[in-house]
Amino acid sequence: MPGFEAAFGGWPVPALATTYEGGDPALLERLVQLVDLLEIAPDTIVGSERGQYILRPEVLDEYASVSSRVGLIAHGIGLSIGSFDQWNHDYLRLLDELFARFDLQWHSEHLACTVVAGESLGTMLSMPRTQEALDLVSRRVELLQKLYPVPFLLEHVIQLLPDAPAEFTPAGFLNAITSRTGCGLVLDVYNLECDAHNQGLHIPAFLDELNLAAVVEMHLAGGVQYEGFQLDIHSSITRESTVTLACEIVRRAPNLRAVTFEYLKEAVGLLGHDAICGELQRLRQTVLRQAVLQ
Ligand SMILES: [Fe+2]
Ligand SMILES: [Fe+2]
Repeated sequence: MPGFEAAFGGWPVPALATTYEGGDPALLERLVQLVDLLEIAPDTIVGSERGQYILRPEVLDEYASVSSRVGLIAHGIGLSIGSFDQWNHDYLRLLDELFARFDLQWHSEHLACTVVAGESLGTMLSMPRTQEALDLVSRRVELLQKLYPVPFLLEHVIQLLPDAPAEFTPAGFLNAITSRTGCGLVLDVYNLECDAHNQGLHIPAFLDELNLAAVVEMHLAGGVQYEGFQLDIHSSITRESTVTLACEIVRRAPNLRAVTFEYLKEAVGLLGHDAICGELQRLRQTVLRQAVLQ
């Protein structure tokens, strides 16, 4: 990944990052003392003005108030880069607004569809792993790379539906996209565990096949089971198996630049500030420490 070496200039240890969606200044103040980067999900801070979707100014002001103390990255939800007809131009307008206000270090999205034929799915569906889908998503990645001046990363989502006939393996499809476009990956360790539980993904084989040099960011989260299905609802701290797997990946991913703990805003009341902050301290001491120890 020569592009990423040039872009990042070789940070010695991955940064610690977490999500923050605004409206909780006490939490924000504690987070900036613990993390190096804050993840902004543009779709989660949307308001409207004269019928137009905009980023809520009061939340942008919160990010601005800490931008001299932490770096900022963007992680989108609603671009729908995999939709066959068109992606979501409203999301691109939000991203334009964010880039106009802040120097983001990189931005990322999900390799998924959230809108099909104009209808919102209310969830994310993984893309078919075909040559046609590879061509489609690669064209859109290359356009994003032209539009925005920082690296772009793609994150694999959990597979909700049974596997369709495919021309690529899960890791092979990601490898094909990154080698063709030069984009990086967000490797979500909890998503891998969901796919292992729900669909029988063999994680060691997946990691052996995946080009780990393309992994720039790693996501950690905890979720719940519903009727036997492991859900990617980020409502708890990271379980031990996820941390163990993350430690292995840190040792094997030479261009990893950030480890991000994700939780939903709706889970903050459930978890409490102390648990979120304690989790960040634990991840720095365990997962990030792997990069120092090798
Ligand atoms: Fe994500
Ligand atoms: Fe994630």
